[in-house]
Amino acid sequence: MRLTGLFPQFAPEIGKPAVGFSATPGIEANIPAGDTVHFSAAARTRKRASTQAARVVQKPIRFDAERQVFTLSGKNMEYHLQITPDGELRHLYWGKPVGEVQPELLPFNASRVNSWQPALDIVPREYPDFGRGDYRTPAVQVFAPGSGQLTSHFKVVGHRIRPGKPELDGLPSLFADRKQAQTLTVQLKDDVTGLDLDLNYTVFKDSDVIIRSSRITNKGSEPIFIEKLASFSADFAPSDYRLLKLSGASVRERQEEFMDLKTGNINVSSRLGASGHEQNPFIALLEPGATETHGNVYGFSLVYSGSFSAEAEQNRNRYTRVVMGLNPMSLNWKLNPGESFQSPEAVGVFSGEGLGGMTRQLHSLFNNHLIRSTWKDKPRPIVMNTWEAFGPNIDHEKVVNMAKEAKDLGIELIVVDDGWFGEKYPRTGVDALGDWKVNTKKFPKGLKGLAEDINAQGMMMGIWMEPEMVSPNSELFEKHPDWIIGQPERTPSPVKHQYILDLGRPEVQDYLIDTISEVLDAGNIQYLKWDMNRTMTEIGSFHLPGDQQKETQHRYMLGLYRVLKVLTEKYPDVLFEGCAGGGGRFDPGMLQYFPQIWTSDNTDAGSRMNIQAGTARVYPPMTMTAHVSDVPNGQVGRTTSFKTRFHVAMAANLGLEMDPAHLSEDKKAFAKEQIAFYKQVRHLVQDGEYRQLRDTFTSNWPAWMFTATDGSEALVFAFQKMADVNVGIPALRLQGLDEKARYQVSGIEKPLTGAYLMNVGLVPRFSDDFDSNLFHIRRMD
Ligand code: GLA
Repeated sequence: MRLTGLFPQFAPEIGKPAVGFSATPGIEANIPAGDTVHFSAAARTRKRASTQAARVVQKPIRFDAERQVFTLSGKNMEYHLQITPDGELRHLYWGKPVGEVQPELLPFNASRVNSWQPALDIVPREYPDFGRGDYRTPAVQVFAPGSGQLTSHFKVVGHRIRPGKPELDGLPSLFADRKQAQTLTVQLKDDVTGLDLDLNYTVFKDSDVIIRSSRITNKGSEPIFIEKLASFSADFAPSDYRLLKLSGASVRERQEEFMDLKTGNINVSSRLGASGHEQNPFIALLEPGATETHGNVYGFSLVYSGSFSAEAEQNRNRYTRVVMGLNPMSLNWKLNPGESFQSPEAVGVFSGEGLGGMTRQLHSLFNNHLIRSTWKDKPRPIVMNTWEAFGPNIDHEKVVNMAKEAKDLGIELIVVDDGWFGEKYPRTGVDALGDWKVNTKKFPKGLKGLAEDINAQGMMMGIWMEPEMVSPNSELFEKHPDWIIGQPERTPSPVKHQYILDLGRPEVQDYLIDTISEVLDAGNIQYLKWDMNRTMTEIGSFHLPGDQQKETQHRYMLGLYRVLKVLTEKYPDVLFEGCAGGGGRFDPGMLQYFPQIWTSDNTDAGSRMNIQAGTARVYPPMTMTAHVSDVPNGQVGRTTSFKTRFHVAMAANLGLEMDPAHLSEDKKAFAKEQIAFYKQVRHLVQDGEYRQLRDTFTSNWPAWMFTATDGSEALVFAFQKMADVNVGIPALRLQGLDEKARYQVSGIEKPLTGAYLMNVGLVPRFSDDFDSNLFHIRRMD
């Protein structure tokens, strides 16, 4: 039911708590589930009196009508926002639970500001619009070319509280049932442009996260251009924050970088048309003194896989604002009267237990409320991938021989990575993409026959595709040269000899759905590695009119998400793995469809320590695929031991990427042992709690721990980067065990108590550079 008008009109309906949440007397939350409340400033005063009698508590979202304050509560977190008498939405507080916040005692009310600065420039705002004296970066910016309006002034006109969490139409989004979460929508309006703005906030009962998104609707009479529509905006009181970002490059993805925030705007972003290798759609703010295990940390993660922007801006008065969403440089969306535009979702997570607490909350959120694949909770098959062994020079015999060897090692699935397709234009190198028909010269029995021969070894078969691309030398491009991303009169720049298909076009989406279905139907194919190996240039669409060209990138992402949704729903049993030249699109958007992603084309164990630790800062370890490969490593030329290569890969989703025929008998026996052990413990990597015991980026002896949620079992991975002499190696104090319980540690005869392991600690034994130890710990009583 949707109600408009003055509050007393619907007073008889108040007091129905949302389904799934307890209702006990206390602070009022009088909005029946699913209703919309519209009220004017004058009506608010009348409403106060009329609602006193019908106060109920509706957790986790409460509205105090008297103070006009919303309180959003998580497990150990509160978020407060207030509607001011003139309809502005003001941010009051985000952090550990405090009950009631007094706005008049907050820093912005105590700061001395001279007449040079408009008052709005220091007020903590919930979703800052543009042009009215707040010079900090805005969350929303629009342009009305007809009337010339650049400024907007959004005022609150109503709100709605609902159980559960609505899913977004056309975009990946988190999911929750009515008992797990509650959603607040604050409705705002800009009278001059006629734009309606909905701000959505979902809070989960059992965690300290807030999911936000925004939706704008043109209720006016002229087209409006959306230049910026952030997913999350948060203002922080003055302090000396540190910023954490995950930055890098191809084969050096997601390195942790910390920096002190000073005056100015730090923009962590991508303009590539993919989230990219360079920056991940994640940032965190650390309060002074916050560490891995202590202190307040605020993490932000965007559920999107295209060009994004995450700004952390400190203004002249040292107020800090975080704004995250679509990259405004890659957006200018024409919104005709009657149309709506939905932003992606962003996750905000509060941790009072340092960075580690933030990481564990993100892992649990993504595992339980983001990844949709039926494979999410199943043991992931250990794969042998052909790429590093054969490149594109692959054929039926090579693959089947590999399968025979791999079976003895305990491998469960063979991935035919590249080189299998193209009849008129066979894929022999890194060109000829787009014709997804098997090359019958290399594979005379087709995909069906290949799958049969692999299945006959007791193994599953997987295949590689790069569906979003087309090469100039392909039958597809000959037929549809206008299907690529490009600009009239400009020669498209080929990168890696390939162009990107314009997935914003419905006919391209349908073509891909059909083509990929044909491949998956061609034989018993149980896994698909979905690759994407170039970024966008000359970004435009031959399908769109001139004034909509800047919609190309976002339309592309919407098209891609549609294709992924259709295919993953059509083939629920196929295990999809994401990839983009290694880890160039490792983000929450992709995780909605792909339960695992190829972490990096760098498989060197030394490099992987950092890449995997940086990735696991945000993403669950089982989502990171990690392969043991040959040495010296093809990317960095380093030789690390077989043991360390296994240990690093076993702290993630283990696979192998080498020709097993080249392994010595000793190595085969060792690999067999490690694979058998991994099968016994992979549930810990998948479901256990992850802790970084010693920092990977700054310590010479990084260490990671996975603990079963019931505390019965744990795995500890300890590494040494550089060997040295006459240096004492610090003991490794474990975390999260039961002090009183006794544990059996692999390699140590005597049982040790939790108290011992957490206070005295384990002392790893190292010899060479890049050495490793792996401890398996089991609770005895
Ligand atoms: C990309 C991927 C690799 C491999 C090759 C095949 O580089 O990251 O793992 O699949 O493509 O061309």
